[in-house]
Amino acid sequence: MTATRLDGKALGQTMRAEVAAEVAARVAAGKSRPGLAAVIVGDNPASHVYVRNKHKACTDAGLATWVHTLPATTTQAELLALVARLNADPAVHGILVQLPLPKQIDEDAVLRAVTPAKDVDCFHPENVGLLAVGHPRYYPCTPHGVFHLLARNGFDPAGKEVVIVGRSNIVGKPLALMLAQKRTAANPAGGDATVTIAHTRTADLTAVCRRADILVAAAGVPRVVTPEMVRPGAVVVDVGTNSMDGKLVGDVHEGVAAVAAALSPVPGGVGPMTITMLLVNTLAAAEHIDG
Ligand code: GUN
Repeated sequence: MTATRLDGKALGQTMRAEVAAEVAARVAAGKSRPGLAAVIVGDNPASHVYVRNKHKACTDAGLATWVHTLPATTTQAELLALVARLNADPAVHGILVQLPLPKQIDEDAVLRAVTPAKDVDCFHPENVGLLAVGHPRYYPCTPHGVFHLLARNGFDPAGKEVVIVGRSNIVGKPLALMLAQKRTAANPAGGDATVTIAHTRTADLTAVCRRADILVAAAGVPRVVTPEMVRPGAVVVDVGTNSMDGKLVGDVHEGVAAVAAALSPVPGGVGPMTITMLLVNTLAAAEHIDG
């Protein structure tokens, strides 16, 4: 079997065009232009690439966007002061503080300082809580991107066995919540799936992964999912973005393409979908805040 490619670049472009059309219609109706403020602290090269890509995607879709670049020596008080300013700025509907932050800064304190209505990453505990009880204000971007990459390629997770390798706050945990939840009008990305979270302490990772109809690799370990872990005909989503010898590699071994029915590539799979969902959330934030 040679896996069908789950093309996030193409789907991302389609969905960005949908956002751009909604933004244009909104502005033509005299409403506010959605605006995203991104904050980046320090010199992490991967973070700078992500923020640049987010900035360009916003501009292309007609959103207002600002990037605040702070030095690696920034203090927590300075960063909190900037977040407070963005919280109060009526032109800013979404605030994104790029992670990781330098070690002198308490990441939790900063994420809690972002006013929940502008928390387009869905990292604030209030928004995580709303997601957990099935009434999401926003969906976190990467899990939401995975949901659409599956659903819009004809792989509805409803009733399926999903195994997620990885339990991070950014991907594994919120994705597991979303995919296990009941799909309702208030929770359209509820997956109605049977979900297992696997991680570094899972006893027999291969046996657990082979149960999956849909296997999501989100461990942050290069090629941790090997062909023998994949049941023939399963759908595999690779969330990994690991840098190896200057090259971007995923969490899924190349050989999985010969076993899986469908596989998302790295790059060009989940990454472009994450950015697309950020645009979706910024538009939603403008609608929440300004109407
Ligand atoms: N670092 C890695 N992924 C993300 C993300 O989705 N949002 C932010 N803010 N930082 C990240």
